[in-house]
Amino acid sequence: MLDAAMPSGLLADALAGLAASPKTLPCKWLYDAEGARLFEDITRLPEYYPTRTEMLILPQASAAIAAACGPGVAVVEFGSGDGSKVSVLLSALESPSAYVPVDIAAEWLDAAAARVAAEQPGLAVLPVVADFTQYFPLPAELPAGPRLGFFPGSTIGNFTPDEAVGFLRRAREVLGHGARMVLGADLVKAPAVLEAAYDDAQGVTAAFNLNLLARLNREAGADFELASFRHEARWNPVLERVEMHLVARRAQVVTLGGQRIGFAEGESIHTENSHKYRPDRLRQLAEAGGWRDLALWTDPAGLFSVWLLEAA
Ligand code: AVJ
Repeated sequence: MLDAAMPSGLLADALAGLAASPKTLPCKWLYDAEGARLFEDITRLPEYYPTRTEMLILPQASAAIAAACGPGVAVVEFGSGDGSKVSVLLSALESPSAYVPVDIAAEWLDAAAARVAAEQPGLAVLPVVADFTQYFPLPAELPAGPRLGFFPGSTIGNFTPDEAVGFLRRAREVLGHGARMVLGADLVKAPAVLEAAYDDAQGVTAAFNLNLLARLNREAGADFELASFRHEARWNPVLERVEMHLVARRAQVVTLGGQRIGFAEGESIHTENSHKYRPDRLRQLAEAGGWRDLALWTDPAGLFSVWLLEAA
């Protein structure tokens, strides 16, 4: 396995983000084993519609995707998580040549690789530990032939629009000539629906967000008092994104990496953006990133979109 992910980046990223104003922490650090487990729970919440809606759309889209791709494509999944979404795609494709799950979290990359290897016997599975917000090379053993990128779950929403264009450009570079990409993107909708999806009644999303501080305590020797922060999900109507924040319930000082970090009462750490898109806007971003859209599928309620893109 290629190991391009540096766990030591957690402390450096946290020190930089908490020295900034307003304070931030990069959302990629939400996914340690505990964060991954909590995210799995989120995907099953009644309020969190994206996962189940995308899983409704994908089987309906997969035959057309397979027809557009033809035989022998290698599927490269950006941020594979547990590998549960790619099965529907892999089983629809005509003799795919390989599956390349790419994830920053080595521990659940192995689980994804094992799961797909068990479900698709004979398929070459070539996992890559990498931060896909940066350029990374595909494994040298990957057979020649067309590549199909797979970026489901509206993870693209974690990027700002500029970063999303950067990602799309890099993905096109990584995937090479003649590439295609299946992209899942969440759509703009009523703020109440969005806020409930990111601040559920059972408090699972709150636990997921607060786990970032628990992780800094576990892995970076920080002394965050979890009870002194509360989870907040805010719809930003100008930037059309749901923001997750951790808000200090009282003024306090936290120690991290030998530094003292002061918080005012009500001060927040911005931990995640989930941008929501209108189809026209997403099409613009795809074009700016070097892709043209071949097809777009949505659910009847218009909650979520799945795109088939082709390298322009
Ligand atoms: C995995 C990034 C797509 O933004 O909806 C879920 C993460 N954060 N609830 C999302 C998340 C809070 C999720 N993504």
